[in-house]
Amino acid sequence: MIKIVFATNNAHKLSEVRAVLGDDYELVTLKEVGITEDIPETGATLDENALIKARYVFDRTGLDCFADDTGLEVEALGGAPGVHSARYATDGHDFKANNRKLLAELEGVDNRRARFRTVVSLIRGGVEQQVEGIVEGVIATEESGAEGFGYDPLFIPDGYDKTFAEMTAQDKNAISHRGRAIAALKKRLTKKLLSQPLTPKRVNKKM
Ligand code: IMP
Repeated sequence: MIKIVFATNNAHKLSEVRAVLGDDYELVTLKEVGITEDIPETGATLDENALIKARYVFDRTGLDCFADDTGLEVEALGGAPGVHSARYATDGHDFKANNRKLLAELEGVDNRRARFRTVVSLIRGGVEQQVEGIVEGVIATEESGAEGFGYDPLFIPDGYDKTFAEMTAQDKNAISHRGRAIAALKKRLTKKLLSQPLTPKRVNKKM
């Protein structure tokens, strides 16, 4: 078993990632390493936020770890909500309010193209790496389905006639942004490290 910290407290994300990584990996949560505070996501991009979160965990624990950051990028809204996806409508993670706002913004708009993008930052043996997963689709005109979380009731992936919230977790994982990013992460985890590791101190200096 390979032990690795996943920088999240989101139970949905945890079970999705567990399913894709499989039984060879033991995922340790933030709570389990004693990080109970919200990690500040002060970056301007998904890439920056994923790296900030992974470095936060590495600096405090020195353990191999990874963090993800996801955004929904809607073409007609110039890529919004993007990095602001969690706090699109309110200050908190209010999924219902976010979905209501998205539907209102797209009212009467024909172009409903959108994509989910997940960036994962991995720090393994002190070496930083980044992978990405994308799924393309459209925003529905009303919410459907009760599975998943966030914008799932509104997102219809290309090649399907149902939303992520109408799919089983297994079907969503097979094609989703996070499923793809974690599959890429798994590949990296099976490869030998080539670069020189950073010490936690050097990681700090780069911030
Ligand atoms: P996070 O910063 O990676 O937690 O993601 C930001 C926001 O994107 C979340 O609060 C959700 O609203 C949304 N989100 C992330 N992943 C998904 C997903 O798999 N389905 C639907 N919405 C998601």
